[in-house]
Amino acid sequence: MEKMRIVETASYVPDKVVTNDDLSKIMDTSDEWITARTGIKERRISLGENTSDLCTKAALKLLKQSGWSAESLDMIIVATMSPDSYTPATAAIVQGNIGASHAFCFDISAACSGFVYGMQTAAQFLKQDWPLKILLLGGEVLSKVIDWSDRGTAVLFGDGAAGVLLDNQYSADSGLLASVLETYGDQHTKLTAGQTKPLLEFPPQRATQISPFEMDGQAVYKFATHAVPKTILAALKQAELSLEDVDHFVLHQANARIIKAIAKRLHQPLEKFPINIQKYGNTSAASEPLLLDELVASQQIKRGDIIVLSGFGGGLTVGTQIIKY
Ligand code: ACO
Repeated sequence: MEKMRIVETASYVPDKVVTNDDLSKIMDTSDEWITARTGIKERRISLGENTSDLCTKAALKLLKQSGWSAESLDMIIVATMSPDSYTPATAAIVQGNIGASHAFCFDISAACSGFVYGMQTAAQFLKQDWPLKILLLGGEVLSKVIDWSDRGTAVLFGDGAAGVLLDNQYSADSGLLASVLETYGDQHTKLTAGQTKPLLEFPPQRATQISPFEMDGQAVYKFATHAVPKTILAALKQAELSLEDVDHFVLHQANARIIKAIAKRLHQPLEKFPINIQKYGNTSAASEPLLLDELVASQQIKRGDIIVLSGFGGGLTVGTQIIKY
């Protein structure tokens, strides 16, 4: 077991609720279609707040809950596919906002697997013998990169931020038991956003162009329903645990149908697969910590529970970890 304690969880979502009925007034869709195909009923949309603003609010909650000072943080990681900018990193903006002057900071770009990739990165640092305190956030303002005229993607996503405080100083029996991360770059065109185009002539005749979110939904669906169970089984093998030992499967909330298909494929009861997509839609890197925070806050997850944390998305990427909470 690797030293990694989840000390606190917290989340922040914007106030603005957009229901399926609201969307059906601005595009050719319906509550029936969205609910039946995805399980989503509503999502939060950020007005005036960027990814770093949502992350800052989640970070301030984490510090308040833990009693940790901002200055005590050694490292800040933000997983996001909708950063404020190419540079500076969103994590650096958060650091400035909260005054974590001793932390070094960077972003991780692994789409909806970003939070799990972030946990794995943090775990490598936490192996050290000296004390380390890490703030890991998943945050997205996907509403700014969505093509609102494309009903195939616009109905799926939402905005939000959530995260964890991690450390390696504890005597309790909790930590990271196993981790399996995979990337399929040969399928990088299946889900894209913010693609830039190189110049074709100089001096340039056009303004900078950035593409909106585009996805081959069926390809991603097939990928998720195969890759997630595969990595869960591989991680359990690594941890020398069985499916029955798992208390909660905290999976990326992309589509309730995907989660149900994974539960079925693993022959596990759906009750072990919590779902909150109906309230938030797909919040990409924020989705797993948002769900984790809900489960911890409602005491459904308790110390000592075995959790499978799994994400999948653009890259294509997939990542599964087994954690003793
Ligand atoms: N409202 C009404 N009708 C719609 C809508 C909509 N919002 N969107 C598409 N349709 C129509 C289509 O035009 C199509 O009509 P047609 O049969 O006349 O051509 C019909 O509904 C079926 O469309 P499909 O795309 O085949 O629907 P499908 O059952 O595959 O569901 C969905 C689409 C929900 C996107 C599904 O494929 C899916 O969930 N895929 C996984 C996507 C995913 O998980 N992405 C996130 C990855 S995480 C990340 O990295 C961000």
